[in-house]
Amino acid sequence: MGNAAVAIISSVSATATVVVMIALIRRCRVVRKKIKKKIVKKVLEEIERKNRVGAACDALEDVVIEIGPVEKFLNEILNEKPMRFSSEQLAACTKNYSSELGSGGYGVVYKGELPNGLLVAVKVLKVSMNKKVQEAFMAEIGTIGRTYHVHLVRLYGFCFDADTKALVYEFLEKGSLEKYLYCDEGSTATRLEWATLHGIAVGTAKGIRYLHEECQQRIVHYDIKPANILLTADYTPKVADFGLARLGERENTHMSLTGGGRGTPGYAAPELWMALPASEKCDVYSFGMVLFEILGRRRNYDPCQGESKEWFPRWVWERYAQGEIEDVVACDGIVGDADREKAEMMCKVALWCVQFQPSARPTMSSVVRMLEGEMAIVPPVNPFHYVMESSSASTSSGLWSGTYQSSRDTTARESELSASPAAKSTDAMIEDVERAYASVLAKQSL
Ligand SMILES: Nc1ncnc2c1ncn2[C@@H]1O[C@H](COP(=O)(O)OP(=O)(O)OP(=O)(O)O)[C@@H](O)[C@H]1O
Ligand SMILES: [Mg+2]
Repeated sequence: MGNAAVAIISSVSATATVVVMIALIRRCRVVRKKIKKKIVKKVLEEIERKNRVGAACDALEDVVIEIGPVEKFLNEILNEKPMRFSSEQLAACTKNYSSELGSGGYGVVYKGELPNGLLVAVKVLKVSMNKKVQEAFMAEIGTIGRTYHVHLVRLYGFCFDADTKALVYEFLEKGSLEKYLYCDEGSTATRLEWATLHGIAVGTAKGIRYLHEECQQRIVHYDIKPANILLTADYTPKVADFGLARLGERENTHMSLTGGGRGTPGYAAPELWMALPASEKCDVYSFGMVLFEILGRRRNYDPCQGESKEWFPRWVWERYAQGEIEDVVACDGIVGDADREKAEMMCKVALWCVQFQPSARPTMSSVVRMLEGEMAIVPPVNPFHYVMESSSASTSSGLWSGTYQSSRDTTARESELSASPAAKSTDAMIEDVERAYASVLAKQSL
């Protein structure tokens, strides 16, 4: 019994030991597998991370390969070939969108640098694009890319990836005119000389004139305002964002009535917010509003200026109508007869540009000539007829009175008026329009 029992016990314990060993080995394998899995996961993560960094670097290298030196790149651009950038390339050149320049109705603008050292402004569009808008986008890139003028911001390229739609523009060192005009609290912007401001007005007018009258395909900007006038290091103005108006609805900072989302309140011409045909004369109106802001170095509408000066354009007209244009041209920074003469011209041109009737507004080539003193300016008529009590004596025919041109051109202007759709309207429609104009303008700016 003793020996047999010992033998049984020892064989049972040996079996148990083997079982335990097997169990332990299995457990070890499971643990090892788990550890291995963890290690593989970590390694994969690391590889992925490196790939991401690598991709950004590769993207930059691609840009180098595609773009080459600045000279070659600019030549290609001048040969009307806007570059196509990938979203990775844009992320790389903007250092992952780390430097924001500002934002507007279409999206956010970031500062970027191409590997060849060229600085760019990347506007990442947030408009949702259906097929129609996508087609418009491509057509627009073609138009903007082929439009080159010293007073227009250059489009270098675009991105049309599934997740990123963006426009890549030349970078304008001094930013937009806006910050030099309004003395907003905390503003550190340099104070511009009157001569510089006058130069900015003339240069901007030349940029718009090119869009309207000189480039291959006539372009109406629809959103002329100080924020869309950018300045180079030596304060040469360049008009930005021409051609964007057709890309679709924007955020509610913009007009969204019959103008199809075009224009910005305070600068948009009456026909953009009424059921009237729009033309390049919308830009002339907006440019007039910009001229007032340049003249006054202030926002046109500013409730802090006291009731009479709350809306600057109206105050300017009142002073002018009472023969007190001196009050206007005695504005800040205007010194000496030459300055005063230029300011007086700017004041009259502004009053002509913002006439209610589009055909009473000058063309941009006339605006340039008037601002440069090459064309005589006929005394302007009241542009705010419909929002001023003093206008009650006038009849609706006053709507059509006056032109910036000399009386020699009256016949031409009359035929222009009779050809315009508004002139063909009935008296009732004119009255409706007058009422609408008065109420919208009152809401918009007064
Ligand atoms: N090419 C550029 N170079 C330097 N700064 C720029 C450039 N483009 C835009 N910015 C800056 O970014 C800001 C925002 O521009 P953005 O065009 O998005 O808005 P906006 O002009 O105020 O409105 P909108 O959408 O009507 O054009 C500008 O005011 C300007 O300061
Ligand atoms: Mg803009």
